[in-house]
Amino acid sequence: MKEIKKITCIGAGYVGGPTMSVIAQKNPDVEVTVVDLNHARIAAWNDEDLDKLPVYEPGLDAVVGEARGRNLFFSTEVDRAIDEADMIFISVNTPTKTYGKGKGQAADLKFIELCARQIAAVAKNDKIVVEKSTLPVRTAEALKNILENTGNGVNFHILSNPEFLAEGTAVTDLHNPDRVLIGGEDAEAIEALVNVYAAWVPRERILTTNLWSSELSKLVANAFLAQRVSSINAISELCEVTGANVDEVARAIGQDSRIGGKFLKASVGFGGSCFQKDILNLVYIARTYNLHEVADYWEQVIIMNDHQKTRFAEKIIQTMYNTVNGKHIAFLGWAFKKDTNDTRESAAIYVADHLLDEEAQVVVYDPKVSAEQIYRDLDYLGTRSPEDNRRLLKVVDNAYEALDGAHAAAILTEWDEFKGYDWAKVKEGMKKPSFVFDGRKLLDRKELNRLGFAYYAIGE
Ligand code: NAD
Ligand code: UGA
Repeated sequence: MKEIKKITCIGAGYVGGPTMSVIAQKNPDVEVTVVDLNHARIAAWNDEDLDKLPVYEPGLDAVVGEARGRNLFFSTEVDRAIDEADMIFISVNTPTKTYGKGKGQAADLKFIELCARQIAAVAKNDKIVVEKSTLPVRTAEALKNILENTGNGVNFHILSNPEFLAEGTAVTDLHNPDRVLIGGEDAEAIEALVNVYAAWVPRERILTTNLWSSELSKLVANAFLAQRVSSINAISELCEVTGANVDEVARAIGQDSRIGGKFLKASVGFGGSCFQKDILNLVYIARTYNLHEVADYWEQVIIMNDHQKTRFAEKIIQTMYNTVNGKHIAFLGWAFKKDTNDTRESAAIYVADHLLDEEAQVVVYDPKVSAEQIYRDLDYLGTRSPEDNRRLLKVVDNAYEALDGAHAAAILTEWDEFKGYDWAKVKEGMKKPSFVFDGRKLLDRKELNRLGFAYYAIGE
């Protein structure tokens, strides 16, 4: 079997960057080059100041610091990196299509196809091509078609190796994965990739399957995870009208080892770049095979999640005497979860949009998200003009400033630091009555009530 000496990864994003950094860290004899078309992103990966890496993940700075310049390189020279590699990972974005057939549901594979065409054009010797991006089942067939019809006599082996890391815990997830999944047809190519991971992952956690099982398992894993969140969120609404407490219900059912206690935290709704996109993709695939009951079943997970975001915004409006017009609402958190600067599909965006429609004055504080990003997220929705977004929503870099003079605080992300605030001091600066809407069930109800807040938390 051919030994892998050089790995190239196309796409230096939230997956490509951290995944390749860990592969390089654990395989010091393999040269790993991560390439991207985005010059600014590559420059940030190469920044001497490790605080400026383009992806914020706890522990990532140490991994990059250890491997970068030794056997880990970030570059914009895509062709050269393709030419030199024995193994090429494709880790580019696969967003939901915004045009044409499948608009709003199917995965847009144009970036994947571009990579395949570029590899086909540049490669002069045999390569193993690894799908790292999340892809519709049977994408490998299309890749194969593109790669094998170039007529330059190069042999390509395609593997599927979906990534299961979660943002905010990417480095620990990569260091200690529940499993690594490798799908393929060629035993030698599979073994070559198994060996890369076996440098630190116990063999029994490296699963090998056929290509289609591997591609489909990624979509299914995300669908099952998101389904748990929508399930507990559905119950949170029932708790609010019956006097049950959703955390107590989650604990009671989670103790059943068949159900398990993880991923049962009720919230303002799941966000992130993948759950929604991947379920929509699954729904689309099911529909293309005319499996409408299957499609409807999974679509409900998204419908429930949209409902949860709307419900939270409506709760704020209704509790504040049915109008938030001109009222100052402090948003604590904008990222889709704690410990990441990623805001893609964050519930905060949609809750803000709803409140801005009602002419609320929203002031946002997030420890890791920039003002530019927040305005970009809102402008992208196209609900109102960029000028109106800036008139109605302000971003500050200090939580106490966001909360000063506020009618209400809304917690959108579960950042640990929010728990440690001096809530007695916050109360002094807020308008009375002082409302707290806790979309993450982060704060202590008893303590907040003792301080005199009107406190609402999901599912209580
Ligand atoms: P991302 O948008 O952060 O990064 C993708 C990068 O690919 C971008 O920097 C882009 O410039 C680059 N790119 C696109 N086309 C290119 C081309 N032709 N040549 C060179 N570079 C190109 O995306 P991401 O979050 O890293 O996700 C990548 C894939 O991994 C997606 O399919 C996603 O579903 C999947 N995934 C993501 C996560 C996650 O936590 N974000 C987890 C598991 C799987
Ligand atoms: C998720 C999966 O957990 C990863 O395994 C997968 O690789 C990744 O998607 C992907 O394919 O992109 P991620 O979206 O980064 O990872 O983060 P999660 O921890 O799964 O959280 C997703 C969303 O669900 C967040 O908004 C989070 O706040 C919310 N959530 C999660 C809840 O509301 N309640 C929970 O109990 C768990």
